[in-house]
Amino acid sequence: MKKLYIQRYTDNQRINHWLVVVLFGLAGFSGLALFHPNLFFLTQFFGGPQWTRIVHPYFGIGVFLLFLLMFIGFWAANTWKRRDTEWLKASPELVLHDDEEKMPPVGKYNAGQKLVFWSMTLCLLVLLVTGLLFWQAWFAESVPIALQRVAVVLHALAAFIMSLTAVVHIYAAIWVKGTLRAMTQGNVSAGWAKRHHLLWYRDKMEGAQRDIQAERL
Ligand code: HEM
Repeated sequence: MKKLYIQRYTDNQRINHWLVVVLFGLAGFSGLALFHPNLFFLTQFFGGPQWTRIVHPYFGIGVFLLFLLMFIGFWAANTWKRRDTEWLKASPELVLHDDEEKMPPVGKYNAGQKLVFWSMTLCLLVLLVTGLLFWQAWFAESVPIALQRVAVVLHALAAFIMSLTAVVHIYAAIWVKGTLRAMTQGNVSAGWAKRHHLLWYRDKMEGAQRDIQAERL
């Protein structure tokens, strides 16, 4: 029997996602190069120390703007529902015993994915605001030095949490078999949808049935 696939992302959403990944990588590694002398060697990949310092804020702004596009497209599906709290309470079962049968049914995203989404959003906001405050080339001159110092610490903290969040996100995308193709091909198998996102699967199926009936009329 032919396997049935359901569209999860459009081509534009996927291009947007992968551009965020590339720019996030560039912003992250150029940031690390400036963070500690032991990581100074990374500056050679960005054209030397001066260039690393020049380009890092632009990579950061690029990630923020591209993520903003993703945010506009995805925030509604990531709003917190009562069933997400239930899912979170049951999640140790999933993490410790890989037992998805006992999990409450979820829509397009589960509570874990939603937390990743909001953590990324918050971290990128903090990174942008704090980064602007101590950007020497443009704004730092008019910002009190004490505020700049606080901004530097918060900037590093947000970058650290954002990187941890990205690791969790990538791990989950690989760990849950059949998920990666959502971002490589734009679709997922009907079996994957039914198993991991039952309410979203039902929505999609009902929509498809309505389309078929409308075509018959
Ligand atoms: C190599 C790195 C990455 C891989 C392999 C990856 C993979 C994926 C996959 C497979 C999905 C679809 C999940 C689903 O529909 O259930 C997804 C969604 C998403 N990814 Fe990534 N990703 C990576 C890095 C990133 C980074 C660095 C960011 C942000 C800076 C990011 C932000 C997102 C967002 C916002 C979504 C939509 C999920 C939502 O709205 O909750 N990803 N990613």
